Amino acid sequence: MTTTTYADIPYEELLEARRASGVPMYNDNKMKLGIFGSNCSHGLMATHAESSYELTWEHTQKIAQLADKLGFEAMLPVARYRGMGGETNFNGTNFETHTWAAGLAQATENIMVFSTIHVPTKHPIVAAKESVTVDHISNGRHGLNMTMGWYKAEMEMFGGTQREHDARYRYGSEWITIAKRMWTEGEGVDFKGEFFEIKDAFSDPKPIQKPYPVLVNAGNSPAGLEFCARECDFNFIAFATPEEAKDTAARVRSIAHGFGRDLGILSYGNIICRDTEKETKALLNHILDKGDWEVAKMVSKGLGTESGSFDKVKALQERFILGYGGYPLIGTPEQIVDQMIELNKAGVNGMMVGFLDYVEELQYFGERVLPLMKEAGLRQ
Ligand SMILES: Cc1cc2nc3c(=O)[nH]c(=O)nc-3n(C[C@H](O)[C@H](O)[C@H](O)COP(=O)(O)O)c2cc1C
Repeated sequence: MTTTTYADIPYEELLEARRASGVPMYNDNKMKLGIFGSNCSHGLMATHAESSYELTWEHTQKIAQLADKLGFEAMLPVARYRGMGGETNFNGTNFETHTWAAGLAQATENIMVFSTIHVPTKHPIVAAKESVTVDHISNGRHGLNMTMGWYKAEMEMFGGTQREHDARYRYGSEWITIAKRMWTEGEGVDFKGEFFEIKDAFSDPKPIQKPYPVLVNAGNSPAGLEFCARECDFNFIAFATPEEAKDTAARVRSIAHGFGRDLGILSYGNIICRDTEKETKALLNHILDKGDWEVAKMVSKGLGTESGSFDKVKALQERFILGYGGYPLIGTPEQIVDQMIELNKAGVNGMMVGFLDYVEELQYFGERVLPLMKEAGLRQ
């Protein structure tokens, strides 16, 4: 196995290449913004509450074009092949994310278009080639979010068994090493590892974005954090409180420092925002009253939390309904910005957000919240 790859590029050089490429995820905004989950039915909210959101291509483009116009940095999809069950079969109708990104690349001008990929479902040479193609269609605006696949029934659709947890990250490490070599090396690539044997492999053209598309991963376990700190540009974290976000951000960055590099921190959550606290509370209650508690219960059982205290389990189920366990931002426009400031201080560099009604509420966000974010110095 050759060891001199672009994967070993000194961090300062990688950063410089990314900045020179002009990719939005490396612009000067202190708090980046992305739209998360608009490729799946019900987006990030497991509820029957009324919304104009629908999974059609026309609607998908509308959301992306609006986010692009508002200066958001990213469109980031969820990788999903199987619904999570419950009354809504949450996320059960979904668009494949490389082709989704390709379509949105053509439909937008500045925003980055990410794919989210379960690495065990696709050979790295194929995925690297698909990413390059999206990078060319978008003129250097592609990013890749890698997941190892945690949802057993979903992964078993592909091969009958799922690897044990840390083996998934060893597999991911070989996978991304091969992809990086496809993106950066000019000569035939040979590679022999635990999972892959590659002989004299080529991939041209190279990405427009240098040295390769922005890489994101949501690893959270020790193996996941190590993988992300070593290989990726952003760790996509979940947390319950800003203090926890601060701890996780510091932990993954210190692991990266051990590899002589650094990385940014992203997180996610739905925005529930109205002019007054009363209206916000009414919307929040409505979303929960109409929540798909069946899927929330199934998911919390799957996470092994059924034996916790009633309040703790209920809180987790609420968090699932309100945004896939992300950190929901709830309040008036001023309160939303205060929460963003707090998260930014905790080390979060970007929030990937969803809404009950992506189009309607994104418009409202643009009118009422974005100007306050600018005033607060979070965005330019
Ligand atoms: C912000 C975020 C986004 C994620 N997106 C996906 C996804 O789209 N598809 C998926 O199968 N898993 C997704 N996951 C699950 C992660 O890939 C991973 O399994 C989880 O964070 C647990 O980390 P670990 O593997 O290090 O234990 C996501 C997790 C987080 C925190």
